[in-house]
Amino acid sequence: MHPAIKDLTLREKAELVSGGSFWTSRGVERLGIRSAVLTDGPHGVRRQRAEADHLGLNDSEPATSFPTAAASGSSWDPQLLEEMGAALGVEARALDVDILLGPGVNIKRSPLCGRNFEYFSEDPLLSGALGAAWVRGLQARGVGASVKHFAANNQETDRMRVSAEVDERTLREIYLPAFERVVREARPATVMCSYNRINGVYASQNHWLLTEVLRDEWQYDGYVVSDWGAVTDPVAALAAGLDLEMPSTGGTSPALIEAAVQEGRLDLATLDQAVTRILEVHDRFSPGERHAPDLDAHHALARRIAVESSVLLTNTSGILPLDPTGGGDIAVIGAFAEQPRYQGAGSSHIIPTRLDNAVEAIGAATSRTISVAQGFRLDGEQDQALLDEAVRVAEAASVVVLFLGLPDDAESEGFDREHLELPDVQLRLADAVIDANPSTIVVLSNGAVVSLERLRGRAAAILEMWLAGQAAGSAAADMLFGDVEPGGRLAETIPLALAHNPAHVNWPGSDGVVRYGEGTAVGYRWYDTTERDVAFPFGFGLGYTTFAYSDLRVDVADPTAAHAAVEVTVENVGERPGAEVVQMYVGEERPAVLRAPRELKGFEKIRLEPGERRTVRFELDERAFAYWGATGWTVTPGRFTIAVGRNSRDLVAEQTIRLDVAAPVVPLHRDATVGEWLSHPVGSSVARAFFAQLGPAAAALEDPESIRMVESIPLTTMIGFTVDAKEQPSSPAEVVERMLAEVQSASGRTT
Ligand code: GLC
Repeated sequence: MHPAIKDLTLREKAELVSGGSFWTSRGVERLGIRSAVLTDGPHGVRRQRAEADHLGLNDSEPATSFPTAAASGSSWDPQLLEEMGAALGVEARALDVDILLGPGVNIKRSPLCGRNFEYFSEDPLLSGALGAAWVRGLQARGVGASVKHFAANNQETDRMRVSAEVDERTLREIYLPAFERVVREARPATVMCSYNRINGVYASQNHWLLTEVLRDEWQYDGYVVSDWGAVTDPVAALAAGLDLEMPSTGGTSPALIEAAVQEGRLDLATLDQAVTRILEVHDRFSPGERHAPDLDAHHALARRIAVESSVLLTNTSGILPLDPTGGGDIAVIGAFAEQPRYQGAGSSHIIPTRLDNAVEAIGAATSRTISVAQGFRLDGEQDQALLDEAVRVAEAASVVVLFLGLPDDAESEGFDREHLELPDVQLRLADAVIDANPSTIVVLSNGAVVSLERLRGRAAAILEMWLAGQAAGSAAADMLFGDVEPGGRLAETIPLALAHNPAHVNWPGSDGVVRYGEGTAVGYRWYDTTERDVAFPFGFGLGYTTFAYSDLRVDVADPTAAHAAVEVTVENVGERPGAEVVQMYVGEERPAVLRAPRELKGFEKIRLEPGERRTVRFELDERAFAYWGATGWTVTPGRFTIAVGRNSRDLVAEQTIRLDVAAPVVPLHRDATVGEWLSHPVGSSVARAFFAQLGPAAAALEDPESIRMVESIPLTTMIGFTVDAKEQPSSPAEVVERMLAEVQSASGRTT
C-alpha cells in the first residue's frame, strides 16, 4: 500500500479515485499529494488551459502535429515511433502534462471505423510493437502513457453502449495482444478502458478484463483510467479493477463510493488498492526537469516520419521520382495541396506549431515551372470553373501532381463512414485530369483506406500519405523529387470492394450488439483464408530501389520445443539507397482449429545502400506457433511453414519445419465426446476398458470408420445407446463421473 493510505480519510480516498476536473486527477493538499494532468493525445499534446472538451472542439496550446497512427503504423519502424514518443514526452512535460492519452492500439476490424486514423494496423503484432515503442519513448521523458482503448473498441457507432460480442479465442489472438505487448514490454503508466461492453459487460466494470487478464495474467502494475465518461457505476467499476474515473463527476461518485464502503458493499481494501496504484504512478511520473522543446527539430522529425510512413502503391514506368531541374512544367492540382489535410477530428485534434503546404514545398524544391489549380471544393460541391481550370492546367503541363483525399467531415471520432469512396467531386476531377494528362501522380491524404478502383491503372502513380502531420507538404516534395523514397508499407489491406471486408456482414451491429462473426479472420487473415484478390495486400509498398532475398535458413534446435531461429539475407540490387521491411509469416499446415494460412510473426525495417547485403535474424518462440485453445496458448505437433518476403502476398522464400511438441491434452469433463476420451492420454484406456466389458458394443471403438461416426457423440449419450439400462444400475452420467474420477486419480491432476 502507498504510505499515504494510513493518513487519508475515507472521503479523501473516495475522491482520489474520481477525477478532480476535466483533465486533472485530485490532490490532497494537507498531505502534499498533487493532482496530475492527463490529456490527449497520440499524435500531439492537446493542452487546454481554458474551455475543456474531449472532442477537440475548443482551443489548445500549439504543439507539434505528428503523423497520425494510420501513417506511423505504415512506417513499420519501432525506432521511429520511439523517437516520436520521446518528442511528445518533451512537449508534454513542457506543458505540465503528466499522462499523455495514447497510444491507440485498437485493431482495424473494418476500414469504415471513424477512428482508424488513430490506430496502427489490422495486425496485432505490428500494433503492439509500435505501441510499445511509442510508450517507451514517451515514458523515458518522464511522462506516463495511457494505452487505449481497452478493449474491443473497433467502431464509433454506438461506442458508449454497444456490446462487442467476441469469442475468447478471437479476443486473445486479435484484440488483446497489442495491449498485452505494450503492458508486458513497456509498462505503461495507465491503461484506458474503453466505452463499450465486451460480451455484455462494460469494459469499465469488466472484472475478467481488468483483473483476471490485465492484473492476474499480465501482471500489470499501473492504474486503469476510464475513457472520459465511460463509467456507469463507480462502485462496480472499482470492484472490477478500474482505478480512476475521468473526468470529474463533482462529488457524485465519491459520495457513492464512500457510502458503499460504509455499508459494506465495497471492500475498503479495494479502494485502498486503487488509491495506491494512482499515487504510485503519479509518484513515478512526477514533474521532473522541463526542457523547452526544440520545435524545429520536432517539425523535422514529423517530416521524416511522414516520409517513412508514406506508401507508394503504383509507379508506372518509374515516373517517380521526378527530375527537379528538367522535364517541363509541373501542374499541382487539388485543394489539399494548399490546404493540407494532416490530422483527424476529435480528441486527438491539436493546434500545430506550423503547417507546411505542398505548393510552397514543391515550388521550393524544383526549378521547373509550377502551375496551380484548386480543382475541387472541400465542401464537395461541384464547381465547373474549378474543374475546367484544372483541366487546362493539366493539359499545359508535362506532369501533374494531383492531391486528393478525405475531407474532415468524412471521417472522425464519434462516427463511422458508410463507404470507401473518395468524394464524387474529386473522382470527377481525377477522371478529367488523367484524361487530359496521363502523367498524373495522385497523392492521397486520408485517415483510413479508400477505394482506389477509379484511380488504379489510370493514374501514373499513387502515393498514399494517410494523415501525415504538419510537415506533410514538405514530405510530399521530398519524395516527389527523390530526396528520399517513400518508406511505408501497408499496415491495413486495401480491398477491391467494401463488401469483401470480413466485418461487412456484422457491421456496425444493431440493437446495441455487434457480433465479431469473422472471429480471428481479420484483415489479411480473411483475404488469405478466402483466397480473395485485393487491390493492395497487407505489407505492400514500393520504393525507389529493389531488393533481392537469399539464403533463407530455419533452424529448429529441439523439435520437441516450439522454438526456431530464422535467417534471410537481403541485398539492395537497385541504384539508390532504400529501406525494405522484411516480413516473416508463420502458417500451420493442418491446424486443429481454423487458422489463417499465414500470420505475421516478425518484421524488421532495414536500410541498405546500393549493393549492400544484410542478414536479418528472427527468433520464433512458442507464441509464434500457438493458437488460443481450451487450455490457453496451444501448440499442436505438426508441420509449420516459415515464409519471408516483401508483403503478405509476395513471400519470396519459405521453408517447412516439423514440431514434435507434446500433443495438447484437452481436459475431460462430463460432456466430453467419445473422440475426446479416445484421444486423452489416460481417458482412452479407461473408456476402452469400460466398453470392453460390454462385448460387441466395444467394436464401435476399435474400427476407425466407426470411430469417425461416433467420435462427436458425448460419452454419456454413447453409453446410453449401448448399455441396457436393466443390466446397468448406474445412469450414464454416474458412469462417466466414475470414469472421470478414475482418470483424475490415474493422472494425479485435474482432468
Ligand atoms: C475521448 C476518447 C479518448 C480520449 C478521451 C479524452 O472520448 O475516446 O481517446 O483520450 O476521450 O479526450
